[in-house]
Amino acid sequence: MRPQIFRTSITEMLGIRHPLLCGGLGPGVSDGRYVAAAVNAGGMGFIVATGHDDPGAFEEELKICRELTGGKPFGVNLYISRFAGGAERVRAQLPLLDKYGVTCVETAGASPEPVIPALKEMGIKILHKVPAVRYVPTAVRAGADAVVIVGAECGGHPGIYQIGSIVQATRAPEIAGIPVIAAGGFATGRQLVAALSMGCEAMLMGSRMMVSSDLWVHDDYKKRVVAGDGTESKIVKQLLGDHHRVLDNDSARAVLALEEQKIIDFDAYRPHVNGTLTRTAYRSGDFSKGMIDYGPAVVFADGIKSTEAIFDEILDDAVKALGRVNLLRADEGALPVAAQ
Ligand SMILES: Cc1cc2nc3c(=O)[nH]c(=O)nc-3n(C[C@H](O)[C@H](O)[C@H](O)COP(=O)(O)O)c2cc1C
Repeated sequence: MRPQIFRTSITEMLGIRHPLLCGGLGPGVSDGRYVAAAVNAGGMGFIVATGHDDPGAFEEELKICRELTGGKPFGVNLYISRFAGGAERVRAQLPLLDKYGVTCVETAGASPEPVIPALKEMGIKILHKVPAVRYVPTAVRAGADAVVIVGAECGGHPGIYQIGSIVQATRAPEIAGIPVIAAGGFATGRQLVAALSMGCEAMLMGSRMMVSSDLWVHDDYKKRVVAGDGTESKIVKQLLGDHHRVLDNDSARAVLALEEQKIIDFDAYRPHVNGTLTRTAYRSGDFSKGMIDYGPAVVFADGIKSTEAIFDEILDDAVKALGRVNLLRADEGALPVAAQ
């Protein structure tokens, strides 16, 4: 593990060495082993609580992560559905978080307000993920300890406004009053330095991490990610108000065709969007079917490698970026980098 380079309010809050977070990956993708790898490499990861094949599987992942991390802090991703019963389903999972010593959660979906008192009681830090700056005050009022701002580039759910990370991650720290974490397209050390310069306290990654050798996903899929240049990332389900950034494949095209026909009956979409297809794709390596969350940050994934190796590259790149910016300082009498 690299020595600490950046100390921020997020490294302090979460008890981690580097301001590098790996966002929850569903369904059942960010498991105990992957999260432990992120934690042992000095960052933070979040085991997804939903999307496992059987109900006991989540607990099994918590157990694995606790064993592999040997007492270091680790996190869980809690998706709160905006539909009836969403908060209750999450509340039912909380005793397991307590049992296995989870120290932080990444909440996403609806407001975390209904589950915040119970989480605080357990001493768990709440990082609430929002897709637009306009939701930041709600997260703050609800009692979140930090906010993750995801821009339109993010794999998964970028929200309905489609504002890019460069604006959102710059604006959110101006108004939040609590630490902000930048996400959506972030995957390199240059971007980490940019995020810190913009006032954020860490960056969080999803798409770029899909090539981690610590993930159980089939290598054929990881090779697809390495080959990607980002143009194959498409937003579907806009007609349903449930914008979803995914890999352009048969299922994505079928969904777009339904949208073109202005069909709003969800039953028509169900055969193309169910989670079983997605899990099968990751397991088999045949990624032609299923909603596969996929953002243009895949362009930074240059090979299948361990989470620690990815973090090390990011940190080396960040140090270089700091050096480059310093070289550009006219007040230090430096020549423009290109002229050297
Ligand atoms: C394959 C994949 C699955 C994801 N699944 C979830 C999920 O289940 N819950 C969630 O809150 N975010 C999920 N996300 C979003 C990530 O946690 C993160 O916010 C996002 O990937 C950051 O943007 P990036 O893809 O540009 O790095 C997923 C992203 C990807 C790429």
